[in-house]
Amino acid sequence: MVFEQVATGGCQSYLVGCEQSCGAALIDPELSQIDHYLGLAARHGVRIRYLIDTHTHADHFSATRELARQLKVPVVMHRASPAPFVDMRLADGEMLVLGKLRLSVLHTPGHTADSMCLQVEDRLFTGDTLLIGATGRTDLPSGDPEALYDSLFNRVLRLDPALKVCPAHDYKGRSHSTIGDELATNPRLQKRERAEFVEMMRSLNLTMPTHVTEALRTNMSGGKTVARLLAEAGAKVPFMSLAELKARVEAGEDDLIVLDVRERDAYEAGHVPGARLLPRGQLELRVNQDLPDPTRRILSCCELGYISTLAAATLRDMGFLHAVALDGGMKAWREAGYPVKAGKEP
Ligand SMILES: [Fe+2]
Repeated sequence: MVFEQVATGGCQSYLVGCEQSCGAALIDPELSQIDHYLGLAARHGVRIRYLIDTHTHADHFSATRELARQLKVPVVMHRASPAPFVDMRLADGEMLVLGKLRLSVLHTPGHTADSMCLQVEDRLFTGDTLLIGATGRTDLPSGDPEALYDSLFNRVLRLDPALKVCPAHDYKGRSHSTIGDELATNPRLQKRERAEFVEMMRSLNLTMPTHVTEALRTNMSGGKTVARLLAEAGAKVPFMSLAELKARVEAGEDDLIVLDVRERDAYEAGHVPGARLLPRGQLELRVNQDLPDPTRRILSCCELGYISTLAAATLRDMGFLHAVALDGGMKAWREAGYPVKAGKEP
């Protein structure tokens, strides 16, 4: 069996494949690692045929939708998943076939209603149902400590104690354990009475994961993260450094239109000398009257360098083929001690 584990912070993804058929599945891929997964599949000579999320993740951005678009293979989740873009919905007791490999589904609700574990040969991909020395939390949307109790004590923990546990998270750099090890040492599994277990899960008082709203929004809808929108915009515009712009401003270069896309009050408090004002929110509506010549070089700038990247990408989309964005923003410009002019537009 082809097997690779990829850690992204505390998130664990897995590539499992059949050496004979060269088909593979990717389990719980994370958006920032797409090139890494594709590189691993290429190195092993396998083709990814299934993109699987063990559940709706609240703590990281799933790569299944984007990889499905690139590879034209199905996104696979449990049938209880709320995501509309899932191509193949699995139920308890069903299997995915990859050559000689069988990926068997156990529906294990509790961490979320759509949580499933996948058994492949001697390994159990437990998602967030069972972690090394912990369990998934049950206080996020669709979490249910009663259901987690049943999934653990009446399903997962009754499997072969020698089965390797491959969780969707580990924050301490451990790669796997076994069912037997977890039964013996996992502190969350020592309360084996239902009421005690449920009470313990209800009183954990965990902090919310960072980006929980954005992760749930994008993982459940297939929509884009803010970082992805910025990366896509950044991939289609060139940038100019702060130092390069300063040199051009000091040389009095008039070839370059510096376009400040912040709001008027920020502009009037201090802008790059000679910069013109066109707030991002009005860009499309005012571009024809304010920037009639699409052949001009236009450099967009904003406070932090993000909105200006979106603005430059919009200008490029509208035919301004020489639009560039400032690499950084007015905050960094001021901190560098570069010249600033206050007041209204010239
Ligand atoms: Fe999770």
